[in-house]
Amino acid sequence: DGPNTRAVAAGKQYFGSATDNGELTDAPYLAGLSNTADFGQITPANSMKWDTIEPSRGIFSFTKGDVIADLAAKNGQILRCHTLVWHNQLPSWVTNGGFDNATLISILQNHITQEVTHYKGKCAHWDVVNEALNEDGTYRTNVFYNTIGEAYLPIAFAAAAAADPSAKLYYNDYNIEAAGGKSTGAQRIVKLIKQYGVKIDGIGMQAHLIVGSTGSESVSAWTANMNAFTALNVDVAITELDIRTTTPATAAAVTQQAKDYANVVQGCKAVARCVGITLWDYTDKYSWIPSVFSGQGAALPWDENLQKKTEVYNAILNAWGTG
Ligand code: G3I
Repeated sequence: DGPNTRAVAAGKQYFGSATDNGELTDAPYLAGLSNTADFGQITPANSMKWDTIEPSRGIFSFTKGDVIADLAAKNGQILRCHTLVWHNQLPSWVTNGGFDNATLISILQNHITQEVTHYKGKCAHWDVVNEALNEDGTYRTNVFYNTIGEAYLPIAFAAAAAADPSAKLYYNDYNIEAAGGKSTGAQRIVKLIKQYGVKIDGIGMQAHLIVGSTGSESVSAWTANMNAFTALNVDVAITELDIRTTTPATAAAVTQQAKDYANVVQGCKAVARCVGITLWDYTDKYSWIPSVFSGQGAALPWDENLQKKTEVYNAILNAWGTG
């Protein structure tokens, strides 16, 4: 068995991975991704984002997203769909269009309606809004906030709910794995959306963590923070897990990383409404970390040669239980 088999046996959780279109021509990679003992769920890392889906106003291109959706269906894997509204990978026709309030609302609603309708019945979850918060929990300025105000959040969730009533709708962000201003801000978003009478089903904690540091160091801190969200009657999911270190990783760092991964798994397992864990790709071969954090990486349980890091992999297995 693998982490997903153990996760499913431990409860209703899944264990999954992000993936991207360019990687799927790598046959050994694809075979590993498609092994449902290890991965019961996949997320497209890029191909359902606005710049891919609606690169020009009213021109929709679902081809790349469809490849990932079809792969999930073929493998019998849960599909988490990512993401409808984000300030990054947002085409300049939106960012710099100079649209007034009413026009931008209709552009937002149309984008969401078209995309969610296209994938209706295929997305178990949608990350409806991604990264709307600054580190102190205030709203990040972006074209939607600047033009529409905080109402863009409930407007987005309402459009998604109308287009696919059975998809679970998530707010997704990073640095909300521990208590603090940003987590409080995310809780404010849950309350805001509910105050509008609109559905929000879950909080995605991205969990781009650092070995021996923030978020993963204590199971009790991790579960307390998750419970602050579930107290608002929403699920939580770990949506983009990786735990980076200075490269090349020392033996001590790998040992600490194994503990950190185990803590994340134990935390999710301990919270009834933590529905699953997604790695932000499963192998260092395709990790985003080295290109953004110079000198860091080795963040995933599989190395650059697609080999399992035995210590890390076994720690994850053991944390899920004997299954
Ligand atoms: O597609 C182009 C290609 O045509 C071009 O030749 C190449 C040259 O750089 O770039 C390619 O686009 C890249 C794209 O990934 C697809 O590979 C972009 O440069 C690169 O910036 C982009 O990075 C993605 C990043 O989001 C962008 O913000 C990462 O793959 C993706 O893993 C990452 O994912 C985000 C989540 O969506 C939200 N949370 C944080 C997470 C990590 O940044």
